[in-house]
Parts: sequence; C-alpha cells; structure tokens
Amino acid sequence: MLWMRTLPRVAIGYLVLAVFAALGLAFAAYSMRFGVRGLGIDLSAETHLYTPGDERANLAIFAHMILGAAIMVLAPLQLSARLRARRPRVHRAVGYVIFTGAMATALGGLGYIALRGTVAGGLMDVGSTLYGALMLVAAVQAVRLARARELARHREWALRLFVLAMGSLIYRLHYVAWYALTDGMWSTPELDGPFDQVQYFAFYLPYLAALELWLRRGRYRPAGAVAD
Ligand code: HEM
Repeated sequence: MLWMRTLPRVAIGYLVLAVFAALGLAFAAYSMRFGVRGLGIDLSAETHLYTPGDERANLAIFAHMILGAAIMVLAPLQLSARLRARRPRVHRAVGYVIFTGAMATALGGLGYIALRGTVAGGLMDVGSTLYGALMLVAAVQAVRLARARELARHREWALRLFVLAMGSLIYRLHYVAWYALTDGMWSTPELDGPFDQVQYFAFYLPYLAALELWLRRGRYRPAGAVAD
C-alpha cells in the first residue's frame, strides 16, 4: 500500500527536522547566553572575542550574537504557508522584526571585523564580510519586494535570507560532523587549517547555490499569498 511505502520517508523527514530544530534551539540558547554575558561582564579570560576597554567592539560582537539567535529562531515561522495565509499581519510583523534583527546582526558582525578582525584574519575576514554583506542585501530585498507587492521575488529573497540566517548554525554543524569523523584533521585552534579555510565560505555559498538551482528548476510553488 502507498501509505506504507511513504510513511518511513515522511517519518525520517520529521526526525531530521526535529533533530535540526533541537540543535538550532541549543545553538540559539548558547549564542544568546554568550551575547548577554559579553554585554554584562568582562569575558576576556574566557574568549578572544571580548576586548577590555573597547565598548564598541564588545557591543558589536555580543549584540550580534543575541540578535542572530533571535532571527534564527524566528525565521522558520515565515516558511509556514498557513501562517502567511491565515495571519498575514503576524507574518508581516515577524518579517519586520527579522529584517531589523538581520540588519543589526550583519552590521554588528561587520563592525567587529572592521574594528578587530576575525581570529584567523585575511581570508576569514573576506568570508565573514561576504556573509554579512549578503545578509544585508537579502534582508533589504525581501522587505523592499514585499512592500512593492512583487511577491514571487519577495519569497525568493526571503528564502535566501532564511538560508543565511541558518548559516551560523550550519557552520557549527559542519565542525561537529568533521570533528566526529576525523578528530579535527586540517583544523587548528586559530581556525587557519585547510578545513577551516574551506569553512570560511562553505557554510553559506553551497547552500545558496543549491537554493538557486531549486528555484531555477521551478520546483518552488508559492502558496499562501500575503493579503494586505
Ligand atoms: C544567525 C546569525 C548569527 C549568529 C547566531 C551568530 C552567532 C555567533 C556566535 C555565537 C559567535 C561566537 C563564536 C564562538 O562560539 O566562539 C560568532 C562569532 C562571529 N560572528 Fe556571528 N552570528 C551570526 C551571524 C553573523 C554575521 C551575519 C556575521 C557577518 C559579518 C557574523 C560575524 C561573526 C564574526 C566576525 C565572529 C567572530 C569570529 C572570530 O574571530 O572568532 N556573524 N557569531
């Protein structure tokens, strides 16, 4: 029977989703706690990310952790066709919160790079700067196109923003998987090993490319248009 053949696939799909959601929530909690502590107390004994006496750099990096965690948790809500169709005002309000959070997260990360640079510098600065710049562009485009009622293009940019909002989580998941499989081969504490260098870009570019392929192949069928 058809349902007996499709059930395992559906169950596996839900299981993968549940695991991803649990890891996402755990990382969001870690990021939020780290950010709150960094804004409240001197963490210089604990992390290179805290700069004693540099209020701007500390505000930039630790506020970006709090806001980044918030957009990661909120972004999946926007994928719900049901919410878009039945509660367009909620979709719109959450959309503006994500827009503001994404802009501030990206600007915080970019500000920190400008003031302090990343731990590995050079290519890691480039990878993180491109990541932040893409997040800014995707956030602006998603809101601009929604306001212009270009809903098909709005959804494409919103999906790009979603992938970018998950990027920071994906980055950590790559490391967890790699360390479990290889015990950290080609990775250093300064994040300048060959594996680390690939990661400067690999946590968002391949996923954006896969999304583009999916969009171009026309598999995406928008549902639940936002009524005004
Ligand atoms: C969903 C969004 C984001 C979240 C949740 C997030 C979270 C974090 C966390 C928790 C850290 C500390 C890493 C550690 O555990 O030691 C971190 C570091 C950092 N993040 Fe983000 N981030 C996000 C987006 C961004 C964006 C868009 C940029 C863009 C420039 C960025 C730039 C950085 C930089 C430069 C560092 C410091 C890297 C280093 O030198 O060690 N982040 N982020």
